[in-house]
Order: sequence, then C-alpha cells, then structure tokens
Amino acid sequence: METVDAIRDRRSIRQFTGKVVPRSDLQTIVDCGRLAASGSNRQPWEFVVVTTRPMLESLAIAGAWIAKAGAVVAVVMDTSSRWWVEDGAAAIENMLLASVALGYGACWVEGDALAREEELKRVLGVPASKRLMALVPIGVAAHVPVVDKKPLDEVLHWEKY
Ligand SMILES: Cc1cc2nc3c(=O)[nH]c(=O)nc-3n(C[C@H](O)[C@H](O)[C@H](O)COP(=O)(O)O)c2cc1C
Repeated sequence: METVDAIRDRRSIRQFTGKVVPRSDLQTIVDCGRLAASGSNRQPWEFVVVTTRPMLESLAIAGAWIAKAGAVVAVVMDTSSRWWVEDGAAAIENMLLASVALGYGACWVEGDALAREEELKRVLGVPASKRLMALVPIGVAAHVPVVDKKPLDEVLHWEKY
C-alpha cells in the first residue's frame, strides 16, 4: 500500500475480529516504530508486545475493548531525553500507519492508559524510572468508524497565515 493511502485510510480501530496477528507482522510494526525520527537521534523508546489472552485482559483496565485486540504494543519511554514526548508520538504514528499498510487496524490509547499508568506498568513489568506513554492495540478491524476531519482549506495557509 502507498504511504499516502495508509495515511488517508487510517482510523482509530476499537473493534476487532479476534483474528491472530502473526509475530512477523508485529515485528514489522515495531520495527517501523523504532525507525521513527527522534530528537538528537536519542531513540528513547522501548516496546513491549503483548499477545496472550490473559495479559491482553489485564491491559483491558485501560478499556474493555482492548481485551479483544490481536496484540497490544506498549510504548515505554526514557524521559531523560528532552523530546521524549515528540519522539514517542512519532514512533506511535509510524506503528499506526504500518498496521494499516499490513491490513490491520490500531488505536493510539494514551489518555485511558495514563489514567491507569502505575497499574499498567506493574502488569507489564515496566521499571519505575520509565514512563508508559501509550498502548497500541492492533488487530483485524471488525468496524471502521467514520470520523469527521477538518477540511484541508480550513487548516492550510499558503505563504502567510
Ligand atoms: C494523544 C492521543 C491520545 C489518545 N488517547 C486515546 C485513548 O485513551 N483512548 C482511545 O480510545 N483513543 C485515544 N486516541 C485516539 C483518538 O480518539 C482518535 O485519534 C481521534 O478520535 C480521531 O480519530 P481517528 O484516529 O480515527 O482519526 C488518542 C489519540 C491521540 C493522538
């Protein structure tokens, strides 16, 4: 799939068929995450991939629907890097787009994960010194929502604001 098509097709997917996502595809998705741009090339990220049903159910404290994902990638950040938030965001977006390119749907779950960050860190065994930035549930989409987007001419300015 062309990159521009993946960007246009991407939607936040919160309903999955339950189909297994092969390990090789998960590896490709995380590989695309770790290849993202990062401030001073610090690459302050690590990724925990969860595939077993009991672990996915434990992560569902951030949203019941997460238990039905084929897998979840947890994004763990080293906050000693000045741009860790931007870097993590770049890695997450890369993984969302890679998921679409491979025929899956995914969702950037940050707000709901931050609300339960300490519990989720315990479940995942993330060291206290690191932040759990987001969960990215991935799977075959059972439903693709229609989302309202601002039209291009409302946000695009040529030459001057
Ligand atoms: C920083 C950030 C945090 C988000 N947190 C959550 C979340 O906690 N739970 C959730 O279901 N979706 C979350 N989302 C997904 C947004 O709700 C979604 O991107 C938005 O509604 C637009 O829909 P779209 O992704 O299909 O274009 C988050 C997205 C971003 C960028």
